Amino acid sequence: MIKVSPSVLASDFSCLSEEIKKIDNAGGDYIHLDVMDGVFVPNITFGAPVIKSLRKHSTSVFDVHLMIVDPKRYIKDFVDAGADIITFHYESCDNHDEVIDLIHSFGKKASMSIKPNTSAEVLRPFIDKLEMVLIMTVEPGYGGQKFIDKTLDSIKAVREMITETGKDIELEVDGGIYAENVHLPINAGADVIVAGSAFFKSDDPEKTIKALRGL
Ligand code: DX5
Ligand code: ZN
Repeated sequence: MIKVSPSVLASDFSCLSEEIKKIDNAGGDYIHLDVMDGVFVPNITFGAPVIKSLRKHSTSVFDVHLMIVDPKRYIKDFVDAGADIITFHYESCDNHDEVIDLIHSFGKKASMSIKPNTSAEVLRPFIDKLEMVLIMTVEPGYGGQKFIDKTLDSIKAVREMITETGKDIELEVDGGIYAENVHLPINAGADVIVAGSAFFKSDDPEKTIKALRGL
């Protein structure tokens, strides 16, 4: 079944512990935590201390999306904070293998992400070592943007790459996804849907989760 990973970026930061409970109560699979450093992306959100303080409020999988330069420097901090899956950006460093190996050395799942204009081919040398790939379907940095249709080609290309490995690698998509358009990334091969605005602006979060599963 398709998994849904609601992003707290669209939630009320003044009561984050309550907001992540909403995700758990509505049946979300993962909790998507967007870390932005104001350098790799123009926006700044929160770091490991905030994630650590949330860890005691949920037993769900923490799906941490790092939009930061030099991610290797901070992997241990996010592991210590309670991250389960750590996504870093292909564009954010040149020591990809070291970052993946470091995440694995802590027994955590490694995921690599590409921005909409980056070719999916850059993932090929690493795909075998990853537990998840994240295709950005908007430019990273802000919630509430419009889904970029051409990213569907990257989703299809990565789905083919994953099939070739014969491994059970998750394919996550992130940005501009709502009940109305979720069929596009699902039909292209995505199996984990990130949703910020769609979830936190919904009047019926449980119904929204079901809709985002394509049901
Ligand atoms: C954007 C973040 C997304 C964001 C998605 O850089 O990576 O996770 O929260 O927000 P929506 O679903 O509102 O586009
Ligand atoms: Zn994200």
